[in-house]
Amino acid sequence: MSKFSITTYTLGALFFLVSLFLSVFYGYKVVTHELPKEKKVQQKYKYHFVLVPEELDNEYWRLVEKGAMAAAKKYGVMLEYTGPKQANIDEHLRTIEMAAASKVDGIMTQGLSDDQFTPLINKVVSMGTPVITVDTDVSNSERLSYIGTDNYLAGYLAGKALIEDTDGKANVAIITGSFYKNHQKLRVQGFKDAVKMEKNIHIIDIEESEISRVRAAEKAYQIITKYPQVNAFFGTSALDGIGIAQVVETYKKQNQMYIIGFDTLPETLDYMKKGVIQATVVQEPYQMGYGAVKMMIDIINGKKVPSIVHTDTRIMRVKDLIANELGRKEDNQ
Ligand code: BGC
Repeated sequence: MSKFSITTYTLGALFFLVSLFLSVFYGYKVVTHELPKEKKVQQKYKYHFVLVPEELDNEYWRLVEKGAMAAAKKYGVMLEYTGPKQANIDEHLRTIEMAAASKVDGIMTQGLSDDQFTPLINKVVSMGTPVITVDTDVSNSERLSYIGTDNYLAGYLAGKALIEDTDGKANVAIITGSFYKNHQKLRVQGFKDAVKMEKNIHIIDIEESEISRVRAAEKAYQIITKYPQVNAFFGTSALDGIGIAQVVETYKKQNQMYIIGFDTLPETLDYMKKGVIQATVVQEPYQMGYGAVKMMIDIINGKKVPSIVHTDTRIMRVKDLIANELGRKEDNQ
């Protein structure tokens, strides 16, 4: 062999080895997300769970994460919180698939739609990874349990609160996170059922926010422009009420508009204190996260868990918020 071909051969082999190393290294990283690299860190934990929300930086989901992290810390679980940065079903499904492929001990996620989530959840469970749905259920799937709000009831309670607060007379517009996601559909259905016997409550329009506060505001603006008769809004996901309130405040319509929203994020509470939002549906995201981790451990240890765990849901009005805050102040004195 000539000197030239030996050098070419050696360089070729070197190139091959370096590429192999890089693809194995990065391949490993992609599949296992942000797993701690050192074995020692992994050995500290008894279990490895993944929590996949519909939107990573959503303040509501940060509360679910907080609860899950607290339970993870207590029970020696390595918990990864990972998923789409902004709501995106394909990315959501891919994250679940990747978590299952990397053989985590359990996956906790929303069951956003039967069509897309049921087949994937069934596949993951049949391959040996338990799945718990959190906040939103796909009840026809093989998930082992659901923990979260009874979304139909939550919508129903919102409808009843609106009837009471408007003396049964309102032209309502609904802004919902999505027309297709299970929890949003149930909340809208519950609301519709609650008001359907009221002859002076009219649902004028239903629009979609894609769980974005900016889009909720855009839709609220279009509604008040197109339908001046609208004097009440129902926002069915955490940022919808906030988006609606921004528009109502900007156009100084707060005295003639009733708003009922969802969740108790700080901005919602601020709008309630200012009298722009009148009521909100309370959910327990922290409890959902905490409970999901605990149940997953039970499942892995062969304990029976209920197939549905409904966390508390109720209506909070401005007067309840003020009473709560006064109570808290007195407790601190
Ligand atoms: C829902 C979550 C949703 C969030 C969006 C909450 O009311 O329960 O599923 O992701 O709103 O902001």
